[in-house]
Amino acid sequence: MALKNSIEEAAKRYPNPRSAIMPALFLAQKEHGFLSGDLLKEVAGILDVPEIWVYEVSTFYGMFHTEPVGKFHIKICTNLSCQLLEAESMLAHLEKKLAIETGGTTPDGMFTLSSVECLGACEGAPMMQVNDGYYHMNLTTARIDEILDGLRKEAAE
Ligand code: FES
Repeated sequence: MALKNSIEEAAKRYPNPRSAIMPALFLAQKEHGFLSGDLLKEVAGILDVPEIWVYEVSTFYGMFHTEPVGKFHIKICTNLSCQLLEAESMLAHLEKKLAIETGGTTPDGMFTLSSVECLGACEGAPMMQVNDGYYHMNLTTARIDEILDGLRKEAAE
């Protein structure tokens, strides 16, 4: 009920329900952690739009998750500027350190690793983002190790 109310409230700011799909998905994801098929249906029902519209938006944008993600979602950019500055090596290092493949989540649910398109911080290539916050730029393998240690420490606190 709370989700329905917050989506309906958000939708009032848009000229038509289709425009409110993104904010509705943000609200749904914030409440449930990821966008399951049932949740996409629920959002479509609240906005009274075809389910396919909601599904399309949820699968197009990298910030929406249709599968559960770890406590820390590491998104490493592998687009051109980052790629030219060793993003693939950084990604391989992350896969090795976390013992998962890109797209996977560690068995303890701590880390999910994704490869994403340009995050608009090419001047800091190679770079990655953790969850929806801070950008870590000018990555090296040593810097990645420090970041992972810091995140593990944060989780333990
Ligand atoms: Fe990586 Fe733009 S190419 S941030």
